[in-house]
Amino acid sequence: MKIIPSPPRATWSRHWVFILACIGSAVGLGNIWRFPYITGLHGGGSFLVLYLAAVLFVGIPALLVELTAGKALRAEAVNAFRKMLRDKWWVSALPLALCLLILSYYLVIMGWTLFYAFFSLGGNHIPFSEAASGWALPLAGIACLALVELVSRMDIKDGLEKVNIYLFPIFFGSLVFILLHSLTLPGFSEAVSYLTTINMGEVTSPLNIINAITQAVFSLSVGMAVMLTYGSYLGKKADVFHSSLAIAVSDAAIAITGALVIFTISFTFSIPVSSGPQLAFESLPLAFLSLEYGEFLMPLFFILLLSAAITSAVSLSETLVDNLKIKTGSRRTASGAMLLLLLVFFIPSALSYSPLAADFTLNGIPFLEFMDAEIVGRLAPLVVVATIVSITWGWNGCRRELRKALPGFLVSPVYLMAKYIVPVAILTLQVLGFFS
Ligand code: PFF
Repeated sequence: MKIIPSPPRATWSRHWVFILACIGSAVGLGNIWRFPYITGLHGGGSFLVLYLAAVLFVGIPALLVELTAGKALRAEAVNAFRKMLRDKWWVSALPLALCLLILSYYLVIMGWTLFYAFFSLGGNHIPFSEAASGWALPLAGIACLALVELVSRMDIKDGLEKVNIYLFPIFFGSLVFILLHSLTLPGFSEAVSYLTTINMGEVTSPLNIINAITQAVFSLSVGMAVMLTYGSYLGKKADVFHSSLAIAVSDAAIAITGALVIFTISFTFSIPVSSGPQLAFESLPLAFLSLEYGEFLMPLFFILLLSAAITSAVSLSETLVDNLKIKTGSRRTASGAMLLLLLVFFIPSALSYSPLAADFTLNGIPFLEFMDAEIVGRLAPLVVVATIVSITWGWNGCRRELRKALPGFLVSPVYLMAKYIVPVAILTLQVLGFFS
């Protein structure tokens, strides 16, 4: 098959907007909703140590190679893989399929945050089971789908960039406010000690290690062609190294802050920290409400979640539309095609908790949780391997471009990590995790 020349590519209007957009993609429900509940399920401080190690040894090398490849190849993921793998463009179907799967249920949870942000404005709390019994939550999900669709029809300067520029201050301001408030609560010291207590048995469990890697790659949005796409909008002189560090540090710092806030509230109100995915929507709002200024804090918490979710969702839709556009020719039709594809998985996810559709459970697990834990949880590390193996093994220019991007002493360590150590470690852990 012939290499299709990519049309001239859009470029970020400023470098800081690129960094903001990457942080916006990385920081999302994964930090404030997924990280605390996964940490709660897998041993608190022990999981935190594993997660930080995974960010350092897997997330950062993967981010560096993905952004470097994106910047050098300046093409859609499909064409970038085509160039790297001598026409084997179909490998790009793996990260792109994962983007589609993640976005389909991500929008559902984003819908919950929209619903709660709106209905908690007057200081009311509607229990999750009651909210889920009608059509309100799926409809809120559809509103989110429409929002993402709208943004993805616009070119990056009018859509993606503006969304990130407007929403980041809202997100950051709410986070700082909620954090400062949680410092005054009695559960804060318990939350700190929970997050700093390490149990060697938990740190060496292959299942916990693989869960930490999954969380690190999910949270940093690496291996799914999103960072490849964002990197492809960079100019020739852009600094990938310092940007990657800024993205990884911000993402981890915000995940830890999110966990601190959520565990502080959980300990203050004796809510079990391992309550699972609905923790943020069931027990936490009630806890917020009973605090001083609760009627203000509760909606603020959901606005925080919603703003974080939007900037991540638009990064997934940008990646999908950028590639679909190769076939459809225009952004508009590409985003229409994305909508149709999304609906296939969005509908069962949106009805997972609804008594109207009790069948949308798989293996007794609600479809949405099945997607998150069984599909994305299992596939994400493997797709990261496929992506970084394609870049480091398939692309001749990889080492040369890393040399341009990184300080000299880091070129070999990053290259060797990404090329040999990370893929072998992930594959081995998957096998060990499977049998444990
Ligand atoms: N990083 C986002 C979060 O933590 O919520 C989710 C996400 C966005 C995952 C983009 C993967 C991705 F490619």
